[in-house]
Amino acid sequence: MSQLKPISHLDNIPSTPGKFKLEKSQPYIHRLRFHTSLSKLTLWSSFFLVFILFYYVLSSPSPSLPSRRSLNDSWGGPSWEKRVTRSAQRRSSHGLTVLVTGAAGFVGTHVSIALKRRGDGVLGLDNFNHYYEPQLKRDRQKLLERNGVFVVEGDINDSSLLKKLFDVVAFSHIMHLAAQAGVRYAMQNPGSYVHSNIAGFVNILEVCKSVNPQPAIVWASSSSVYGLNSKVPFSEKDRTDQPASLYAATKKAGEEIAHTYNHIYGLSITGLRFFTVYGPWGRPDMAYFFFTKDILKGKPITIFEAPDHGSVARDFTYIDDVVKGCVAALDTAKKSTGSGGKKGGPAQLRIFNLGNTSPVPVSELVNILEKLLKVKAKKKVLPMPRNGDVKFTHANISLAHKELRYKPETDLETGLKKFVRWYLSYYPGSGKKSSW
Ligand SMILES: NC(=O)c1ccc[n+]([C@@H]2O[C@H](COP(=O)([O-])OP(=O)(O)OC[C@H]3O[C@@H](n4cnc5c(N)ncnc54)[C@H](O)[C@@H]3O)[C@@H](O)[C@H]2O)c1
Ligand SMILES: *[C@@H]1O[C@H](CO)[C@@H](O)[C@H](O)[C@H]1NC(C)=O
Ligand SMILES: *[C@@H]1O[C@H](CO)[C@@H](O)[C@H](O)[C@H]1NC(C)=O
Ligand SMILES: *[C@@H]1O[C@H](CO)[C@@H](O)[C@H](O)[C@H]1NC(C)=O
Repeated sequence: MSQLKPISHLDNIPSTPGKFKLEKSQPYIHRLRFHTSLSKLTLWSSFFLVFILFYYVLSSPSPSLPSRRSLNDSWGGPSWEKRVTRSAQRRSSHGLTVLVTGAAGFVGTHVSIALKRRGDGVLGLDNFNHYYEPQLKRDRQKLLERNGVFVVEGDINDSSLLKKLFDVVAFSHIMHLAAQAGVRYAMQNPGSYVHSNIAGFVNILEVCKSVNPQPAIVWASSSSVYGLNSKVPFSEKDRTDQPASLYAATKKAGEEIAHTYNHIYGLSITGLRFFTVYGPWGRPDMAYFFFTKDILKGKPITIFEAPDHGSVARDFTYIDDVVKGCVAALDTAKKSTGSGGKKGGPAQLRIFNLGNTSPVPVSELVNILEKLLKVKAKKKVLPMPRNGDVKFTHANISLAHKELRYKPETDLETGLKKFVRWYLSYYPGSGKKSSW
């Protein structure tokens, strides 16, 4: 293994693009004069060796942590860096340069495409985990590729990868959407929430606070932080200290962690509390999605009612409205004030509800789906189990309206029509068999 030692030592040199320009060493060749062909041969073979070594150093993916590298790493190398650079290239000097985490996710895909289309530089990051069908994430990735957005495959808790991305691109903004989502799954796999929503978020903030310039951060919190709060509508100032699920607790923790990094390091951070986002390319673990699937299959669906026989309601928010809120949050984000881990002065810290301000009972959601799918649902009504879901959500969005000009425009029926149209084309053959 001693043979490997010099290589891993070279590996520790930070790979700064442009530092090792091979052409630069070429003038020296001409200054040297050797008269025997033997020394010429020696000379050329040394250059060949040096070239191989430099190539190895330049193409090594994670120079600071060579032990973590495996044959399996899907990032690193000159052609990878080229794709990263090209994807993050903005069309004009006014544009933003945004790293979108969770880019192969539902919201991430839509936000990435919206930013890219208006000329911003966008680079995606996603670990393509199997929480729900990975094929859907791969298909969103194809859509992103067609729109010029490259999605780096990697984990937000991988600090060497994040540092590498900042080495290659000076991001002005981070749109942080990667997370372990879902309320009920937290009872099955609590560790995944800690991994992505706590450790991963801290890792992102650690890297952001150290780089120069520090980017501004916009990230997805959740309406679930309101938990058992019963004051309606939910306003940003309401209490958020009674989470009803581990998911909610990790999002609430994220808001407190954001406060710390803003306070100590001068990072500009905006949290967005999304309220039940739905639409084309949506998440299969959400009710509107699997109700559609089950209704079409003729499978019974379970509708939960609140303990007092009241209806369960959600403030369903259409994806395009949420995307506008995300983009407005990026556009109004002030610069971070620190650099290289030192705070420069007070920095912006914001939190906004992004909802629709019109809660709809789940029974009404099912009525709309039945109408759009032209299939009667087989309904089972059960009392809601205490596994993390809350009875209702209802956003007060006056703060987002004031600061972001946020104004949701899509009612549930209009939005579901677009979702159903997408669903039937994405899963051909799932619709009602035509009767001939
Ligand atoms: N959709 C909603 O209704 C809703 C509501 C409230 C909050 N949110 C939040 O909005 C954000 C986006 O949600 P979404 O609906 O698009 O979810 P999503 O699951 O479709 O997207 C999240 C993406 O992040 C990726 N990811 C997860 N952990 C990762 C990790 N450790 N490293 C790299 N990538 C990772 C996943 O592969 C996925 O593609 C999440 O933070 C979510 O908690 C969503
Ligand atoms: C490579 O990664 C895949 C999934 O990311 C994993 O299943 C597989 O075991 C890995 N293989 C090696 C050799 O590490
Ligand atoms: C996140 O990464 C850190 C540093 O590499 C590691 O020590 C930690 O175990 C990881 N945390 C989780 C929850 O995966
Ligand atoms: C909505 O929030 C604003 C603050 O952003 C507050 O002034 C207003 O009273 C709230 N409205 C209701 C109905 O709670």
